[in-house]
Amino acid sequence: MSGTSADGINVALVRIQGRGFRSRLELLAHYQFPYPAEVRHAVLATMNATTARVADLARLNFLLGELYAGAVRAAQRRARLECELVGCHGQTLYHQGVAQPFLGHRVACTWQSGEAAVIAAKLGVPVVSDFRPADMAAGGKGAPLVPFLDYVLYRHRRYGRIVQNLGGIGNLTAIVPRALPEQVVAFDTGPGNMVIDAVTERLFGKPYDRNGRLAARGEPIERVLRELLRNPFFRQRPPKTAGREQFGREFVRDFLRLCRRGDANDIAATATALTARSIGIAVRRFVLPLLEGGEIRPARFREFVVSGGGTKNATLMRMIREELAPLKMRVRTSGDLGMPSEAKEAAAFALLAYQTWRRLPSNVPSATGAQRLAVLGKISYP
Ligand SMILES: Nc1ncnc2c1ncn2[C@@H]1O[C@H](COP(=O)(O)OP(=O)(O)O)[C@@H](O)[C@H]1O
Ligand SMILES: [Mg+2]
Repeated sequence: MSGTSADGINVALVRIQGRGFRSRLELLAHYQFPYPAEVRHAVLATMNATTARVADLARLNFLLGELYAGAVRAAQRRARLECELVGCHGQTLYHQGVAQPFLGHRVACTWQSGEAAVIAAKLGVPVVSDFRPADMAAGGKGAPLVPFLDYVLYRHRRYGRIVQNLGGIGNLTAIVPRALPEQVVAFDTGPGNMVIDAVTERLFGKPYDRNGRLAARGEPIERVLRELLRNPFFRQRPPKTAGREQFGREFVRDFLRLCRRGDANDIAATATALTARSIGIAVRRFVLPLLEGGEIRPARFREFVVSGGGTKNATLMRMIREELAPLKMRVRTSGDLGMPSEAKEAAAFALLAYQTWRRLPSNVPSATGAQRLAVLGKISYP
């Protein structure tokens, strides 16, 4: 797995038994392989749709295939395990979940890079890749796909759980008590670490705010925060997805302009508060109303399970706790519940790959907006 942060590659080695929503999944090992700086820069450059060159896209696709194969090989060696099937999400370079006008038509599209034929050839096992297009072909937004894993891991008989990932983008899965798959609600809440990373890069020359220390020394600028939260994305009803297209370069440029010559730590705190506040808004606006009038009382939506690199940002976690405290939800990390924060998304794509291998669908239509279930991905053979 490589997420929108473009920080590198996460490899999860898992053992899977059962099928569909009754799958059981055991994490055997997980490793992170940061991209070398020049690869990260190349990835970020090709995400810029106005300047990316097609030859670079083609080259990067094959190079990423090599890097993914190398990462899996290194993981296998360290864990002394050999896998039988690989699932590779790849690196998203472009995602437009909702159809937009194009050449007189309306087109929704997505593009993940990392050539699976290369991975299959290097590792000698089949590789499932390119998970998102099948959901989009079925009318969905192609994201989020992790709710399948969330449902497998976190549905509960007695109480509801909200599962929040803090990657580059923040996304949430809400699972009411005894939820049926079609009751799962999931959507992107807005930026996760993406704006924080961009701001720390610009103001401090660091790729991210380690442990949230920079933001801890500042105070959010309320005026700016209020203005940012007026962005229509936060008001839009789910299902909805976001990416660098919404919260990338241009968003950050406007944000910094709004801050004028504010204190750099205050600006970092504002970026951090934006993530926390937008999560609070999403929960109050779109998740808790699910319970109104139903037989489920809010008090039974009890746990808020957080995963992703953002869990390492102590200031962000504090702000999220403060945001959710009035809602009487207990904030925990996926690690507390047995799945390390950094491994979860990679484990999700292992699980999806396994479903595909068995010709089973694994999109959650209520999450993506698809009209039907779809078997996701393409298989490359060694
Ligand atoms: N020690 C840390 N302190 C603060 N933030 C961290 C730390 N480690 C990782 N992160 C954040 O997590 C991000 C990566 O998270 P990840 O879950 O891999 O996101 P993605 O799925 O978008 O790649 C980094 O870009 C950084 O913002
Ligand atoms: Mg990552």
